[in-house]
Amino acid sequence: MKQYRIATIPGDGIGPEVIDAAVTVLETAARRFDFALAIERLPYGADHYLATGETLPEPAFTHLRDDADAILLGAVGDPRVPGNEHARDILLGLRFRLDLYVNLRPVTLLHPDLTPLKAVRRSGGQAVSGDVRVTTRPPDIDFVIFRENTEGMYLGRGRTEGDEYIAEEVNTGRGVERIIRAAFEWAKAHGKTRVVMSDKSNAVPAHTIWQQKFRQAAAEFPGITPEHRYVDALAMEMVREPERFQVIVTNNLFGDILSDLGAGLVGGLGITPSANLHPGRVGLFEPVHGSAPALAGKDVANPYAAILTSAMMLTELGEPDAARALERAVRAGLSAGVRTPDLGGTAGTRAAAAWVAEHVATEDRA
Ligand code: NAD
Ligand code: IPM
Ligand code: MN
Repeated sequence: MKQYRIATIPGDGIGPEVIDAAVTVLETAARRFDFALAIERLPYGADHYLATGETLPEPAFTHLRDDADAILLGAVGDPRVPGNEHARDILLGLRFRLDLYVNLRPVTLLHPDLTPLKAVRRSGGQAVSGDVRVTTRPPDIDFVIFRENTEGMYLGRGRTEGDEYIAEEVNTGRGVERIIRAAFEWAKAHGKTRVVMSDKSNAVPAHTIWQQKFRQAAAEFPGITPEHRYVDALAMEMVREPERFQVIVTNNLFGDILSDLGAGLVGGLGITPSANLHPGRVGLFEPVHGSAPALAGKDVANPYAAILTSAMMLTELGEPDAARALERAVRAGLSAGVRTPDLGGTAGTRAAAAWVAEHVATEDRA
């Protein structure tokens, strides 16, 4: 039987609760789909940092790099660590040091009533004024964001000179090229026909490298229409016509912001997953959401983002059937009204996870 070594870092706030939920569902999936999981729980996070001064010690890093098949992280961030230095070492540290240059963030409408856009006035897909046809049909939102994950504004480079607080954004030709290529390759492999690259080259001269690399890569993918949007215009269009998007590729900071905007289009941070990837290396899987300190310990956090993140992990591990079963179970839970308070329901974190696990175990296998 195949066995996968999963290292979990539950982290802070709601992180431990949503990871417990995901582990319950993963264990059920392993039983149904005949694989084994060796799940390990690592203590790194704010408590550990405040108690020991350690963020992510070197032996833990090499252990994760060399001995795990996947890393599943809840969230890091705690009001007692206002400088967020432990999160920088753990989360950004893993992204950078494992060179996980792809941050893949799908935005999918899993149930029609989850989008705040459902009552939008539309005519032929275009929002128009005046004599409009009003339809309550929700838009079919299903796109992925390829967020560059190893450079941009996130390297923390810069300096302070008197009154000037200077942050430097790093865009290397190699870094920009590889994320753009990853987006095109994913589009091709998944039968998509458009890739939208977003930058701010009209204001930031360094972003011309994005234009150059995008043109070069697009020439190699003749079946895919390349489009460009400045990020401000893209944000507007994502709200007006999200169904037009298939694949969006952008830099680290814009990708961070747009992925929360995307989450807002499909039900919020409680249900959006992400994967930090570098083909051939161990991946780091985490919900898009953070530690939501105000919700911690109350059994109200939505576990669906962590469960869908686990599905992305199973896909990468080579268990796509199990991954699809998790996704079907979450959709079924949403349809059956098994929803935590962020989605207007009354289910608790544990109850929602138990329902999903039960669905994975017992759904009609025909
Ligand atoms: P957040 O994602 O924690 O919360 C934003 C809003 O979404 C809050 O209203 C919260 O209650 C809600 N929310 C988030 N996840 C939810 C869930 N699973 N179920 C129900 N509601 C949910 O973002 P924030 O408030 O900006 O940040 C809080 C802390 O988390 C900060 O320290 C931040 O740096 C950190 N953070 C960590 C990660 C990560 O570890 N991957 C990601 C984002 C933010
Ligand atoms: C995310 C988070 C992180 C980021 C923070 C916690 C550093 O917002 O994973 O989206 O900005 O990448
Ligand atoms: Mn974010």
